[in-house]
Amino acid sequence: MAILSIKYKFPKNFWWGAATSGPQTEGRFNKKHANVFDHWFDIEKNAFFNGVGPNVASNFYNSYKEDIKMMADIGLNSIRTSIQWTRLIKDFETAEVDTEAVAFYNQVIDEFLKNKIIPVMNLQHFDLPVELYDKYGGWESKHVLDLFVLFAEKCFALFGDRVKHWITFNEPMVIVEGQYLYKFHYPNIVDGKKAVQVLYNLNLASAKVVAAFKQSKCAKQGGEIGVVLNLTPSYPRSQAEDDIKAAAFVEDFFNKSFLDPVVKGEFTPSLVQTLRKDGVLWESTAEELAIIKNNTVDFLGVNYYQPRRAKSKGAVWDKTKSWMPDKYFDDYELPNRRMNPYRGWEIYPQAMYDIAINIRDNYNNIHWYISENGMGVEGEEKYRNADGLIEDVYRIDFYEEHLRYLYKAIQDGANCFGFHAWTAIDCWSWSNAYKNRYGYIAVDLITQIKTIKKSGYWIKNVAKENGF
Ligand code: BG6
Repeated sequence: MAILSIKYKFPKNFWWGAATSGPQTEGRFNKKHANVFDHWFDIEKNAFFNGVGPNVASNFYNSYKEDIKMMADIGLNSIRTSIQWTRLIKDFETAEVDTEAVAFYNQVIDEFLKNKIIPVMNLQHFDLPVELYDKYGGWESKHVLDLFVLFAEKCFALFGDRVKHWITFNEPMVIVEGQYLYKFHYPNIVDGKKAVQVLYNLNLASAKVVAAFKQSKCAKQGGEIGVVLNLTPSYPRSQAEDDIKAAAFVEDFFNKSFLDPVVKGEFTPSLVQTLRKDGVLWESTAEELAIIKNNTVDFLGVNYYQPRRAKSKGAVWDKTKSWMPDKYFDDYELPNRRMNPYRGWEIYPQAMYDIAINIRDNYNNIHWYISENGMGVEGEEKYRNADGLIEDVYRIDFYEEHLRYLYKAIQDGANCFGFHAWTAIDCWSWSNAYKNRYGYIAVDLITQIKTIKKSGYWIKNVAKENGF
């Protein structure tokens, strides 16, 4: 029998896991409040692929024991999910908790630990309570930031004895883009100036939660807190000066706007300068900036799916239009780019290396992990073989290609401690609902029967060998 050797061996204790979130898995069972997506579905079902909403999702609220067991069966040693603000908290102003929700999250955490899975708990995954939007304007309001801190403190006090890895926000930039610029999160506003203020407020919210965490027993016992950012590198169309300038703005606005404050405690000077010149700079106080300065994260999570490419603006920006970041760039489509046609995203595994080296060289080589990477594919049932196994070899290839670049970066000194796929079990994905499947494990929406895909057996072996 041929003995397969392991060519890419990862560092000791590497996290081989997966990510998901409360609103995308639990279902709304027994949940007393609605988040912005619950509400959007209630008022506009057609905005969701095939009219499928978050009410059942992958039924995790009822099947968490079986689901976690399956995650353990495919060898995952760590899982990120999120605690829903709209489930845990009964009264947002006082942070009085819902006792059934406390019991639920306690059971979930205990179940992870029983299955030898490290639970990584995120506090915000696009699931702002809608009543805080209606009452105060959501993340536009600094009062809402303080209510979020109250919720976070409750989580640390209730679960911090067992959860040692916390995340303040998943992809805060996507909240800015979805809610305030490009209309893919309720309430679908287009307002560049508000977007900039929210961008600042989310940085402040994250820093305030880090500050609260530092006071917690969990931190004193060695617990850590981080943030998950979607760092989609911005490549210029060409080496021409105006293309490089356009890509540099994209990098400033979409990446460094969070990466700089969360790791270095300061906003990027060139970004501040541009926003001030345009009269859209956020309102801040010296006290708030000091909170941001003094409460950087312990570790970073990086979500990477696709690169961003930019070119200089083709047409002159219409000055009568209200401010948008798009004033400074046009998106660029690389000719003959490799595509995932289902999601419409370019596939560019080399970016893994570029991200890692950027963190190594420009962000103090902070310790970090890939917190999401994955390939969403529509109609995977057609890949089910006679034995009932979905043969998702394209997903295995996708992961191996990305991991090879990550491996090379680690060899070159990147301080990366793990790789989380999106996702373990096919889950509900916002307005795309169940269109594209990402999981190592398939879910049948009618029966809720879950079956391991070929990639699930692949990751089991990778985790066992700590490489491939
Ligand atoms: C990530 C999000 O950006 O992408 C997840 O953190 C999301 O919540 C995932 O589900 C996949 O997104 P989509 O739109 O392809 O289903």
